[in-house]
Amino acid sequence: MKNVTFSETLKLDLVDSIIVVAYEDGRGFAEDKLREVFDKVLPKRMQEATKDLGYAKIESFDISLSGRVVEIVVAGAGRKDMASRASMEKLGGYIFNHIRSKDAHVCLMNSVEMVGIEAASAYLASGILLKSWIFDKYKTAKKPPKIKSMECQTSYTEINRNAFEDLSKVAEGVFAVRSMVTEPANVMTPEQIVEEAVKLKKLGVKVTVLDAKDLAKLEMNALLAVAQGSDRNSYVVAMEYKAEKDMPPVALVGKGITFDAGGLSLKPSKDMWRMKMDMTGAAVVIGTLKTLALKKSRTNVVGVIGIAENVISGRAQRPGDVVVSMSKKTIEVDNTDAEGRLILADVLWYTKERFSPQAIVDFATLTGAIQIALGHEYAGLFSNSDELSSQLMASSEYVGEKLWRLPLHPSYASDIKSDIADVKNTGCGRGAGSITAAMFLKEFVGEGTKWAHLDIAATEWDDKVRALSGKGATGFGVRLMDDFIEKHYSRSKGD
Ligand code: BES
Ligand code: MN
Ligand code: ZN
Repeated sequence: MKNVTFSETLKLDLVDSIIVVAYEDGRGFAEDKLREVFDKVLPKRMQEATKDLGYAKIESFDISLSGRVVEIVVAGAGRKDMASRASMEKLGGYIFNHIRSKDAHVCLMNSVEMVGIEAASAYLASGILLKSWIFDKYKTAKKPPKIKSMECQTSYTEINRNAFEDLSKVAEGVFAVRSMVTEPANVMTPEQIVEEAVKLKKLGVKVTVLDAKDLAKLEMNALLAVAQGSDRNSYVVAMEYKAEKDMPPVALVGKGITFDAGGLSLKPSKDMWRMKMDMTGAAVVIGTLKTLALKKSRTNVVGVIGIAENVISGRAQRPGDVVVSMSKKTIEVDNTDAEGRLILADVLWYTKERFSPQAIVDFATLTGAIQIALGHEYAGLFSNSDELSSQLMASSEYVGEKLWRLPLHPSYASDIKSDIADVKNTGCGRGAGSITAAMFLKEFVGEGTKWAHLDIAATEWDDKVRALSGKGATGFGVRLMDDFIEKHYSRSKGD
């Protein structure tokens, strides 16, 4: 979606489609300047359409305006007191669904200024933008959406223009994640992920690539053990975005398994293809840094990602192997399919030691169990800090990327005790799989560091269409991190 503009006046003679957003009680529309125009042209139809206009309900009809047929789309914004950035963005997604298959037309969106939400137009436009993303790289016949431009009528042009400028940079980060995740594992190889990280250099991000030799020197044996069955290389990449002096960075850590076949603890073949998405954590870190760098955010963030492929060969690690992690803690590899926590053990430890961050947030498609617990709606949040948790929860609610906190009680620690080593990489039996995975990670963060782990295994990918994304990759996490970092770990632009 290109050519999004905001203006106070309406250029009715140029548009093919007019989108009117109204609250459940029909108000909003009534407060708008457009009322005058519409009241003359179509008082009855409009009144009918705005009656019983529940959230996301969309009514449309054609009118004749100066001899041309113009489609009027009335979209329900729900209850005024429930309106939020998240509800507006989602509504934008539903609106896009309605107009996506339309023949090429100029589309004008008239949005009422929601009470307390002056940037409503920008949020709606952001939702439309997010929903318009498609991945047709491998389709020889391409069918991109046909909308040519969108003009948003608003009384707060400056506010909406500025808000949308930032939101479109957030969308760029989201799209980077979706593309990387959708790419198959023969394209999105470890080398390619490194490439994607290196691209950030152009935006002023310092990128340091550690290859297998460097990792061996650092004694990242847990990560290397995962990678040893693959012919492909493994890497740790650190991306430093530094816009402020004298501010310790906040660290984002990501799991970057380019394909997770399970290793010798092989996964069943049904749906194994989906494990191309097991690098999403790393993609979210890259996407977030991209957004922050594009926005020139006044913050210091370091992203650290561990990249490897978890497949089989004569060199693959075996169940029962014991490895000495970088932290010196020994790990019994009970199941080679619990590989994410092995690479994160070393990457978390490295991040803490190397960058002394004020907080670490890690993103990982860590457990299938998180889907059993929370489905595709909520990502699991685990943290050793109530403060960090509540900051994350607040951003989660604000942007509509839902998080649910799960316990990390010390009593679960006995589940990952090993008979032969300090810890083992699975829990006991089938219970609390996402919690025991998080308990394992906690061993490698240490006591003094504020840390949160987001298990995004089920929110990153949905076989069903979602409000702001199609089937497949969602890009969950970038919008959350953007808000979280801007609110709690940056100097506000006005300072
Ligand atoms: N990458 C998977 C988790 C996953 C599952 C992500 C489904 C997305 C969808 C992870 O590496 C894994 O295999 N976890 C195992 C852990 C088990 C062996 C303790 C799992 O969830 O089955
Ligand atoms: Mn696995
Ligand atoms: Zn995995």
